[in-house]
Amino acid sequence: MATFINEPAHTFNEYLLIPGYSSSECVPANVTLKTPLVKYHKGEESAITMNIPLVSAIMQAVSGDRLAVALAKEGGVSFIYGSQSIEDEAAMVRRAKSYKAGFVKSDSNIRPEATLRDVIALTERTGHSTLAVTEDGTSDGRLLGVVTSRDYRISRMSMDEKVSSFMTPFDKLIYAYEGTTLSEANDIIWDHKLNSLPVITKDGKFLYFVFRKDYDSHKANPDELLDSHKRYIVGAGINTRDYAERVPALIEAGADVLCIDSSEGFSEWQKLTIDWIRAHYGDSVKVGAGNVVDAEGFRFLADSGADFVKVGIGGGSICITRETKGIGRGQATALIEVCAERDKYFEETGVYIPVCSDGGIVYDHHITLALAMGADFIMLGRYFARFDESPSNKVSINGTYYKEYWGEGSQRARNWQRYDLGGDKKLSFEEGVDSLVPYAGPLKDNVALSLSKVKSTMCNCGALTIRELQQKAKLTLVSATSIVEGGAHDVIQKDKSSAMK
Ligand code: IMP
Repeated sequence: MATFINEPAHTFNEYLLIPGYSSSECVPANVTLKTPLVKYHKGEESAITMNIPLVSAIMQAVSGDRLAVALAKEGGVSFIYGSQSIEDEAAMVRRAKSYKAGFVKSDSNIRPEATLRDVIALTERTGHSTLAVTEDGTSDGRLLGVVTSRDYRISRMSMDEKVSSFMTPFDKLIYAYEGTTLSEANDIIWDHKLNSLPVITKDGKFLYFVFRKDYDSHKANPDELLDSHKRYIVGAGINTRDYAERVPALIEAGADVLCIDSSEGFSEWQKLTIDWIRAHYGDSVKVGAGNVVDAEGFRFLADSGADFVKVGIGGGSICITRETKGIGRGQATALIEVCAERDKYFEETGVYIPVCSDGGIVYDHHITLALAMGADFIMLGRYFARFDESPSNKVSINGTYYKEYWGEGSQRARNWQRYDLGGDKKLSFEEGVDSLVPYAGPLKDNVALSLSKVKSTMCNCGALTIRELQQKAKLTLVSATSIVEGGAHDVIQKDKSSAMK
């Protein structure tokens, strides 16, 4: 007979934290959000400790190299999406790893024959206002000029006007050669009152921009997550099919940590993938696995050798798995059960396997709830998709900006490797939707705001570390009527937009 669990599975929204005693030491400035990313033995330290408990989802609309750099600057890790060719994914990892703080590889490049119309479309798509004009329109073609918003007036010029006629041409540009240090580049920027400085090779090929604003922000990134060579730490998604080719390419490109991306991880495919990695690389290659939603699933992946375990089925904002297949579990209940099993496993074996809560974060306080319930870190898709640095298009609808956000199981992503269990290599039906999310600006500002709320709540609970929060937190289920009481109620709100987050 089937097993019945008669307790309902709960979501984050059904819980609240009850404040605990806060000593005068409990102020946000004293809170640390450091957290382990991969497993470690009792008394040792994790080989990778993040400075903030956030990782970005393994999704086309979320984790490209630009987001990877932006998130590593804040202390978290991106997992570059695997639903692309091995070469393209490895190239993204390589770009993020070779990113030199302050030297920006441009993704807004245009040919001189393009028109003002193309310039407007490109700036809207990427959110950048400084474009490199290169001979072939690529990021490493011969530099012919630069276009910024100061070079054109939309109200006075024809949309058909050619870039070559209004760009700042090469002979009027101030530029620097390869080998220039960041501090030299910044001196040039200051001396000439520039906003950006192109850096080129000896034979005139475009390499990077150095931006005035980036120099300031680089100095303001105390939490940045670097490897021993001072490069940003970057993760990458893999699947259970082509790992024998994909893993070596990603490791060669410099990926610091891998994660098997699958909608359902309690499967022999995951074990076979980890076995292959252990046979070829031992423990030197770190690999997370998932997703599971109960103790049994966790145990299986822990015994299979996973470096961390991801929890969550059906709770993602773009996910329709529960509707399509009838599988899944309320994220809070799944997380609480898996974390209890993680602690039991630690007691039994002395091996601590970090747990990642994946999907379903809607409000910032859901991050705090997930940590309090035992998660070591949180994976977010919708959250990061809204920022400038996500790879998706920014679109304007009736004067409001949105970013596109689509599920890996949607027709648009067609990530069959994530969903197919040994079938015929195709996405037989959709498990995700294609959507829009409100555009929210730069990652840095948003992450700072979200984490300031997390730290503040931790102080209310008398906790200065994530571990302390997990030990001290008192969580209560709320009734349906008290959920209504939790929002603004019995008033007519003037501005409803602030009701989100
Ligand atoms: P979000 O943060 O709520 O948007 O959820 C992101 C998570 O949803 C990802 O990390 C994946 O685990 C999951 N996911 C991504 N694409 C799909 C899909 O198409 N269907 C179901 N789940 C998805």
